[in-house]
Order: sequence, then C-alpha cells, then structure tokens
Amino acid sequence: MSKVIEMNHPLIKHKLTFIRDINTGSKEFRELVSELSMLMGYEVTRDLELEEIEIDTPVTTMKAQVIAGKKVGIVPILRAGLGMVDGMLSLIPAAKVGHIGLYRDPETLKSVEYYCKLPQDIGERSLIVLDPMLATGVSAISAIDLLKGRGASHMKFVCLIAAPEGIKALQEAHPDVDIYVANIDEKLDEHAYIVPGLGDAGDRLFGTK
Ligand code: URA
Repeated sequence: MSKVIEMNHPLIKHKLTFIRDINTGSKEFRELVSELSMLMGYEVTRDLELEEIEIDTPVTTMKAQVIAGKKVGIVPILRAGLGMVDGMLSLIPAAKVGHIGLYRDPETLKSVEYYCKLPQDIGERSLIVLDPMLATGVSAISAIDLLKGRGASHMKFVCLIAAPEGIKALQEAHPDVDIYVANIDEKLDEHAYIVPGLGDAGDRLFGTK
C-alpha cells in the first residue's frame, strides 16, 4: 500500500488557513498556492538521489554532493494543478512539465481526456503529479492511469487538501503511488466538494465562477 505523507509544518498550516478563507482574493490565493507548493516540494524531493563530485573551494579540493538519479517531470492536472507548477519548479528548475486535461462526462460520469502533452522520455522520469484537491480521486486515478499507459513507472501525487474518500480510492487504484498532502480534511459533501475545504480551487485561482 502506498504511503500518505501529511505535512506538519507551521508555515504550511498558516498558509492553508488563508487559502481556505472565503475573503482571500485570487491574487493572494495564487501566491499562497505557489508558496505552499514550494514548501511541499521540499518534502516531496527528500528522497532524490545524490552523487559525489569533486570541486575546488577557495581553500582546498573536496568531494561534494549533487542531485543525481532519475530526471524529474512535473505533471499538473488542468486546470487547478497549474497553480502548483511554479512553486515546484522553483525547487526543481530542470524538471520538464507535462499537462493533462480531464473532464467528467456528465452521462457516463467517467473521466475523459481532452488534452495531454508529456515529455517524450516520460518513462525515465520520476513524476510529480499535481492537483490541489483530491476529492473523489477520479481525476487523479485517471491521470495516473493515463501516465502509466504512456510508460510512466515512478510517480508521486501531490495535493494541498484531500478527502479521506479520495485518499482511499487513489491508494486502492494505485498502491505504488505515494500521496503527499498538506491537510486531510473531514469528508466530501453531496456535490463532491471537500469539507471544510476551500471551494473550487480552479475558480479561486483564476477568478472564475
Ligand atoms: N475540486 C475542488 O476544486 N474543490 C473541491 O472541494 C473538490 C474538488
């Protein structure tokens, strides 16, 4: 079974409070989502492999560590996942970015892909899949299905707020994908909104309704 890593950092808790607040406008919301993503990125990248290289300091020669191992790919799920990209990229600027767009067919209730553009070497990359809200888990599961279908084998899923229902569904569908979450909320309501949550993350990021 995959791991669920819930953040426990005062800065993350503080910033989460303000993205939840109905009185926070889009500009501040976007800035906070970006900052939260960067803070989470610190934890998400904790297991990146290191290798030793030799460098000269002004005083002597030494062996020092640099990031090695798999190359990273960042994959936001459109559209709300876009808000998390800059924060992650500020920590991993060499990462490539793929995009996945999904909508829910109102009749079949199944997830339908409407956009997918990924780095060519996706199978060689360690992927970080981004969506601020893990509600039912349908989008996350479909996005990861799609990525695996295109050859991806190593992935982490990163969200800001999750419902227990979404975590359970994602863990069952993809037991190999660890979930990083800033806070696990109480439940889903009858419209599949997370309670207490923050409303519609896409609308709040982009000022739509
Ligand atoms: N997506 C959102 O943006 N918010 C929710 O509460 C659930 C899904």
